[in-house]
Amino acid sequence: MDDFKIDEIEKKIDEAFQKVSSLEDLERLRIFYLGRKGVLSKLTGRLPKFSLEERRKMGIQINFLKQRIEDLLQDKEKQLKESLKSTQPIIDMGLPGITQPIGYMHPLTQVIEEICGIFIRMGFSVIEGPEIETEYNNFTALNIALEHPSRDVFDTFYLKVSSSNSKHQKLLLRSHTSPVQIRVMMKEKPPLAIVVPGKVYRPDAVDASHSFMFHQVEGFLVDREVKFSDLKGVLYKFAQSIFGENIKIRFRPHYFPFTEPSAEVDISCIICKGEGCSVCSKKGWLEILGCGMIHPQVLRNVGINPKVWKGFAFGMGVERITMLKYGINDIRLFFDNDLRFLEQF
Ligand code: PHE
Repeated sequence: MDDFKIDEIEKKIDEAFQKVSSLEDLERLRIFYLGRKGVLSKLTGRLPKFSLEERRKMGIQINFLKQRIEDLLQDKEKQLKESLKSTQPIIDMGLPGITQPIGYMHPLTQVIEEICGIFIRMGFSVIEGPEIETEYNNFTALNIALEHPSRDVFDTFYLKVSSSNSKHQKLLLRSHTSPVQIRVMMKEKPPLAIVVPGKVYRPDAVDASHSFMFHQVEGFLVDREVKFSDLKGVLYKFAQSIFGENIKIRFRPHYFPFTEPSAEVDISCIICKGEGCSVCSKKGWLEILGCGMIHPQVLRNVGINPKVWKGFAFGMGVERITMLKYGINDIRLFFDNDLRFLEQF
C-alpha cells in the first residue's frame, strides 16, 4: 500500500488548482485527474493487487478524492467565468443607438424648389438652359443694344472660344437666365408658361452682397390676352406664398431692354413691417425682382407675332430671396460649406 501515495496526490491537488488561470488549463487538469488514463483511473486499476480489506479502504479514499477534485473543478470554473465576465465589455442593450448624421438640401436648393413649386401650382412648367450662352441669346435677341453697358466685359465673363455654328458667335457665361426665354420661344409655340431656375455669372468683386456666381429664377408667360394686371396677380400670389399672407408688394417703374413697360417689385420690409429699419435703409421696402411685359421686338426676334401674342416675364435672385426669408446677412455663407451654417435649414 506504500506505493499508493494517495496522501501525496491529495497534497499536490491544491497546488495544481491554484496555478490554473484559464478554462483551457482547467480542462487539462480535469483530463489529468479524471480522464480515462488519468491519475484516478490508474489508481483504480491497481486496486486488484490489494487485499479485500485494503481495497475497501482505498476505494473509499479514491471516491473521496474524486469528489474533492470534482468540487474543485466546479468552483474554479465558476471563478474563472466570473473574472472573464468582468474583463469583457459590458453591452447595454438599453442604450440609444449611434445615430448616423443625415444630409440636408442646401438652403438655396430648398428655396429654388419652393419657388418653382409655387409657380408649378399656378400652372407653370420648369425648364433649364445651358450656363454657356451665345452673345446673341444673352443680349441681342433680348433687345440689348450693342452699345449697352451690360455687354461690357466688366459685366460679363466672355469665353476665349466662339461657338462652332455657322455664325461663329462669341460665347459667354450667361449673366442672367433670360436667354432661356429665347431658347424656349424659338422652339415652342405659345401659349407658354415657364419657370427657369439656374446659375448665372457676373464679374463682381465678392463681398457680403455680391458673388461672381449666383442663382436666378426666371419666369415668363405668353398667351393671346396677357395684361400687366396678370403679372401683378401672379407675383402678388408668389410673394404671399413665400413671405406670408400679410406681405405687401409694390411695382416701381424701371427699365429693362427686353420688357416694356418694366418694373422692379418691392416687398414691405419683413423686419420692420414697413416702419423703416437698417435692413431696408429706412425705406420700409425691399427690392426682390425685375419684371415687365415682353418687348414686342423680343417676340419678333423669336418669330412670334406681337400683334397676336403678348407676354410677361420676371427674374429674381435666389440668394437675395433666401437672405430676406431667413435673415442671412452675408451671401458668402452660402458658398463656404460650413456645416454649422448649413445644418440650420
Ligand atoms: N434678367 C433681369 C436681370 O437679370 C431680370 C428680369 C427678367 C427683368 C425678366 C425683367 C424680365 O436683372
